[in-house]
Amino acid sequence: MIPPWLSGVYLRNGPGQFEAGDDKVAHFFDGFALMHKFEISDGKVSYSSRFLRGDAYIEATEQKRLVYSGFGTVAFPDPCKNIFSRFFSYFWPPTPSDNCNVNYLQVGEDFYALTESSKIVKIDPKDLKTVTTSDEATYDYTAVNLATAHPHYGRDGTVYNMGSSFGMQAYYKIIKFPSADLQRDSTVLCQIPASSSLYPSYYHSFGMTENYIVFVEQPLTINVLKILTAAYGRHSVADCMDYDGTRSVKFYVINREDGTIIPQTYTANAFFCFHHINAYEESGHLVVDLCCYDDISIIKHSYLSHIREGNLPNPKSLSKRFVLPLEKLLTDQLANYNLVSLPYTEAQACLLEDGSVHCSPEILINQYLELPRINYEEYNGKKYQFFYASSGDHKKLVKVDTLNKTSKEWTDSLCYTSEPVFVPNPGGEAEDDGVVLCSMIDLKAVGQSPYLVVLDATTFEELARAEIPVDIPFGIHGIFIPEIK
Ligand SMILES: [Fe+2]
Repeated sequence: MIPPWLSGVYLRNGPGQFEAGDDKVAHFFDGFALMHKFEISDGKVSYSSRFLRGDAYIEATEQKRLVYSGFGTVAFPDPCKNIFSRFFSYFWPPTPSDNCNVNYLQVGEDFYALTESSKIVKIDPKDLKTVTTSDEATYDYTAVNLATAHPHYGRDGTVYNMGSSFGMQAYYKIIKFPSADLQRDSTVLCQIPASSSLYPSYYHSFGMTENYIVFVEQPLTINVLKILTAAYGRHSVADCMDYDGTRSVKFYVINREDGTIIPQTYTANAFFCFHHINAYEESGHLVVDLCCYDDISIIKHSYLSHIREGNLPNPKSLSKRFVLPLEKLLTDQLANYNLVSLPYTEAQACLLEDGSVHCSPEILINQYLELPRINYEEYNGKKYQFFYASSGDHKKLVKVDTLNKTSKEWTDSLCYTSEPVFVPNPGGEAEDDGVVLCSMIDLKAVGQSPYLVVLDATTFEELARAEIPVDIPFGIHGIFIPEIK
């Protein structure tokens, strides 16, 4: 039974159409944004969906071809143009796509669909209609070429996001929106110079604690020269990425108040990460929990050519805890001395002779997990105990106890899980007092309709499920809105 207190709208976003005319999308991440709405009220669930009508979708529909390139898909110039304009369009830098199929951003009472380009599209969560196109709502005023689809929210409603700008010096920028007026009041809180302007890091999310922003510069890099000529070379963004497993990861810690970068250098052995789970400060340490991969095979395995052969992506990311000592370090301390003094973690941090601190993580749980979510409203940036995730094979939902290093699992032998979203009980006090919502995708092959499952977040037992009598493709991220104004 759905708890009586559970009332609101669960919005999900994700790719939902993989062709335009005869053109086929090459990479799963590039399907046209299909928004899903599960409205929950009085113990009942109603479902609706609508395509995001940004320029990428409208032009592709009208022209019956892919007009904008995406993460792993290359669009070709209009065949109707004459040969000269086609030739020059190869040299023109690719226009960012507004196919915002990854997540949502809430700024005040306004909602936007997000992807990783500089474009955002305003939507109305009541009817999923597209309110403005990307011409009217962009990050362009903060001059970023890419931005994450994982903004963070301060307790006062301030929104933080990160984006990259390419140029003679590439920067990772922290953008701050203090109010609903995106264009008027947004500022760049900090510019972190990339270690290499020719090969800046790709990143999908970042961490935020009560006082700091945590940015991970990982060795999955973007070849800037290649991406600037992508249209000529017929490269997608993914084609312009390189992973060097011999290069270290660098952690940057930035003061949220004044944007200063802590001068200490923190490193770790190479890994690739899509998602930060959470981060917090404790006793002079910064704890950073991440879903870490040893390579980038997950990106390669998400090409539709791979999926269409029946090989569903199986993310092999492990939940790892890094602990960064924040207090001023004395260079005469012994090298290789573990600076982490938190009693409950095996993570280590050693001061090296060059003055840098090398961090070795602790594996929180020895199981492949992705799409992590927490009780964000109350515990983002704070010491926390639980996160919820999908197993790598998408057969289970898992609740992880990060303090006791234990887990609870829920499975349905026929299900294919997506991201589990925690919704707090408004009258609850415990961190895990609430429900976990998860949309199970189209299971026609095994004779089962897709459905929304509601789990008790404390016991991780099923409370209810609502079957959806239409196809629902695998989505990426979602948000729960208790009340739409
Ligand atoms: Fe994500």
